[in-house]
Amino acid sequence: MNIAVFVSGKGTNLQAIIDAIDSGKIKEAVISLVISDRSNAIALDRAKKAGLEAVYINPRDFSSREEFDKKAISYLEKYNIGLVVLAGFMRLLSPYFVGRYRNRIINIHPTLLPSFKGTSGIKDAWEYGVKITGPTVHFINEDLDAGPIILQKPVIIEENDTLESLEDKIHRAEHEIYPEAVKLFVEGKLSVEGRRVKIKR
Ligand code: GRF
Repeated sequence: MNIAVFVSGKGTNLQAIIDAIDSGKIKEAVISLVISDRSNAIALDRAKKAGLEAVYINPRDFSSREEFDKKAISYLEKYNIGLVVLAGFMRLLSPYFVGRYRNRIINIHPTLLPSFKGTSGIKDAWEYGVKITGPTVHFINEDLDAGPIILQKPVIIEENDTLESLEDKIHRAEHEIYPEAVKLFVEGKLSVEGRRVKIKR
């Protein structure tokens, strides 16, 4: 299956997926395309280093969210993309995009949803004082950080943790479960029934 990874930043999750494909952990997927909405994303350097097709789409070139998304979709069609993987992609997708690729767009969020949605999830969880948090991989629907949940991994907050050490732990957990979720999807092991995602193991 051809997959596309959408990025805006560091691209450590992109790297984890590249590594899982290279090592043979994920056998059924090829990263055919990386799309960034930021020209200076480190993720673009990672993509190029791995020899992947990478494009930058400048949001300023489009008058609306939907126009941007239509440009992105034109690439997805060109590369016959079966799965869109959002990996630190900082733009919301339009309902048009979500409708066109329903249950074929996945995202990773750094907290145990539905707690601590939004862009400062780890800091919010830390400041709230929770004892357990951890990343969530979920399908995208029309609402922010609210689609059906595929995988979650608990991360325990210990007495000696700091915000920085917690961030490290969460990112390490992300790099385990995101490739795992991609693998399950491309192997056809996921089915969505309402809010519930069934996993065939
Ligand atoms: C991750 O923490 C992810 O949960 C959030 O954005 C961050 C992306 O990191 N959605 P990276 O660009 O993959 O390093």
